[in-house]
Amino acid sequence: MDMTRVAPSEEIREGELFASRIEGTRILVSRVNGRICAVVDRCPHMGMSLARGKVEGNVVTCPWHNSRFDLCTGRNLDWVSAVLGLPMPKWTHRAIAMGKAPAPLTTLPCEERNGEVWVSLKPQPR
Ligand code: FES
Repeated sequence: MDMTRVAPSEEIREGELFASRIEGTRILVSRVNGRICAVVDRCPHMGMSLARGKVEGNVVTCPWHNSRFDLCTGRNLDWVSAVLGLPMPKWTHRAIAMGKAPAPLTTLPCEERNGEVWVSLKPQPR
């Protein structure tokens, strides 16, 4: 598999997002319970970057409309509920979604080898 070196292992830390690019594609890498996880940095709601999102354990929250995703599986855990991080009443959520249905993040194959983290742009099969 075609893998690209993205960072030394020590730069990928629990509770943080490491942003990088492979062939022009924005990616995010994090460490969850010691394991490296990588996703395409593109929120499925409006295509915005999640790089400034909050990370708690395996969950990243999109800074734009608070959708939440599992960083390792990509699974959507909570769909839009805020605007620029400000929580909005439930009756507004449908309007904020703008017709977009909940969708997962694209996860990427990744591994740690000889103190370095490697990521492939070929999405993992679901
Ligand atoms: S762009 Fe991420 S939730 Fe809207």
